[in-house]
Amino acid sequence: MTDWQHQIAMVTGANRGIGLALTEALIARQLKRVYLAGRDLQAIKDTARHLENPYTQLVPLKIDITSGLDITAASQQIPQLDLLINNAGIATGSGFVQSTSSDIALLEMATNYFGPVNLTRALLPALRQSSSAAIVNIGSIAGITNMPLLGPYSASKAALHSFTQGLRAELAKDNIFVQGVYPGPIATRLSDGYEFPKATPADVAEIILNALGQREEDVFPDVMSANWYETFKANPKQLEKEYATWLG
Ligand SMILES: NC(=O)c1ccc[n+]([C@@H]2O[C@H](COP(=O)([O-])OP(=O)(O)OC[C@H]3O[C@@H](n4cnc5c(N)ncnc54)[C@H](OP(=O)(O)O)[C@@H]3O)[C@@H](O)[C@H]2O)c1
Repeated sequence: MTDWQHQIAMVTGANRGIGLALTEALIARQLKRVYLAGRDLQAIKDTARHLENPYTQLVPLKIDITSGLDITAASQQIPQLDLLINNAGIATGSGFVQSTSSDIALLEMATNYFGPVNLTRALLPALRQSSSAAIVNIGSIAGITNMPLLGPYSASKAALHSFTQGLRAELAKDNIFVQGVYPGPIATRLSDGYEFPKATPADVAEIILNALGQREEDVFPDVMSANWYETFKANPKQLEKEYATWLG
């Protein structure tokens, strides 16, 4: 996908963090239109106003990805879409047994897994109108091997990784490209409090879109995720043990 200027895209969680950086990187490529999706309509309208530019039409949309009503209402406004970036996500930093209920695990699964699944399904008719459609799922390196510091989050991202693989196979006959992105620590609000070297959202956004242009299916967009993935490929058990030591 190198013909950026005729493309129509949607980014979820576009008001901050990696979603904002991806939106800025799409505007730099002068896309025709970008739908900025966010659960806080005022925040997403403010973002769109701030990013106003002469080339790319910016359309703010209220989409809480856990809301079926929001997803249905938004998808009815979108007849054609070339690129869907499922970026919105949450990480609570909880473990599996430290919480007395499963509420957090349910919320992370609803947001990080069922959100992308439901939004993608609703937008498939619009994506099928494109001759070169693509779907980008922003997963996590924690979805490849569970990070016990973020146990339920890792499980939700593992589910998203599995969705990415299955969706890719199912949509191959429709010529819809599906990319999985598996970042390590990136300097956004989500990673506040974690003492790792962090890549910038702007660098990561550039790497993701360049990899999309090259039709790379699996993207490890920062040094930490790339290194951890190398360990995983060489010896998955070693990576599991390494992450476990972080619990202290
Ligand atoms: N930062 C990292 O270290 C890192 C590493 C690996 C993967 N990731 C993934 O990267 C993606 C973006 O995260 P980030 O780092 O940019 O974090 P962030 O700065 O916390 O941004 C998260 C975005 O998701 C939105 N969001 C959360 N729940 C939502 C919902 N139910 N409906 C719609 N939007 C929702 C937030 O909206 P509000 O402003 O309304 O809260 C915000 O725009 C996530 O999927 C995350 O799991 C991040």
